[in-house]
Amino acid sequence: MTVAGAVWLAVLGAAPALAQAPAAGTGPVHERVQAARTDPQLEKKLLTAGRKAAAVCANCHGDKGHSSSELIPVLAGQNPDYLIEQARKYVDGRRRNVFMEGVLKALSVDETAGMAMFYAAQSADPQPNQAPALVEKGRQYFARICIACHGADARGTAHMPRLAGQHPGYVLASLKHFNTQDGVRSSTEMETVVRGMTEADMKAVAAYVASLP
Ligand code: HEC
Ligand code: HEC
Repeated sequence: MTVAGAVWLAVLGAAPALAQAPAAGTGPVHERVQAARTDPQLEKKLLTAGRKAAAVCANCHGDKGHSSSELIPVLAGQNPDYLIEQARKYVDGRRRNVFMEGVLKALSVDETAGMAMFYAAQSADPQPNQAPALVEKGRQYFARICIACHGADARGTAHMPRLAGQHPGYVLASLKHFNTQDGVRSSTEMETVVRGMTEADMKAVAAYVASLP
């Protein structure tokens, strides 16, 4: 474990747990995804349901999850457990966006499982034309702080989001939501992380992760 990792584990240990929140990686949707890993018939069924649901999402998130708007997240290549957990957060109010809440509430368990599997299977691309000086500054910041949770390649883990190839505008907006704690997003980990960041740090790190494959 890196020193940064050890420090963050200490910080997390001290953070109060969200008593009402179900543990990430549990619940009916996760159970379906888990079951599909050893059941090809079910996998096919869920992927078909997910692809159909994604036709609606494509209006904003783009074909195969490559959104063209700076403020709409790329879903391609995103980790499935993270997608499922965010869907649950919108539905139970821990993450606020009236439109997303409505859309995700309308999905069945199988459609939610399927859309997560569908998007996770798409390949993500770097966002072109990030300013080199900003990228370099962001690389250094990322290596000091973010790497402990989001990984050396910024592709995250099962429960940690992939940041590589994400729109810098969306990354910046998300960091600001965590920072101002305006109720749009909630995460004890990220609220602690952004406390030490200036707007210049946020912009640099956003450019860096956007530039990654
Ligand atoms: C009208 C446009 C629109 C449509 C249609 C839409 N979304 Fe979204 N979606 C957004 C926006 C904007 C955000 C970012 C909001 C925020 O900051 O919380 C978002 C965020 C998300 C996130 C969080 C991603 C992350 O990286 O944290 C998920 C998951 C998601 N949408 C899934 C879906 C799915 C699945 C569908 C279709 C069933 C869908 N969306 C349809 C606009 C849309
Ligand atoms: C202690 C672990 C931890 C560290 C360190 C950390 N993150 Fe995170 N990050 C998380 C978790 C957990 C989430 C999911 C939060 C949620 O559910 O909304 C997240 C979410 C995010 C998101 C939202 C992604 C999306 O798709 O919406 C961004 C952007 C982000 N982190 C950027 C960063 C940056 C930049 C750094 C370094 C300055 C960093 N993180 C350091 C744990 C961490």
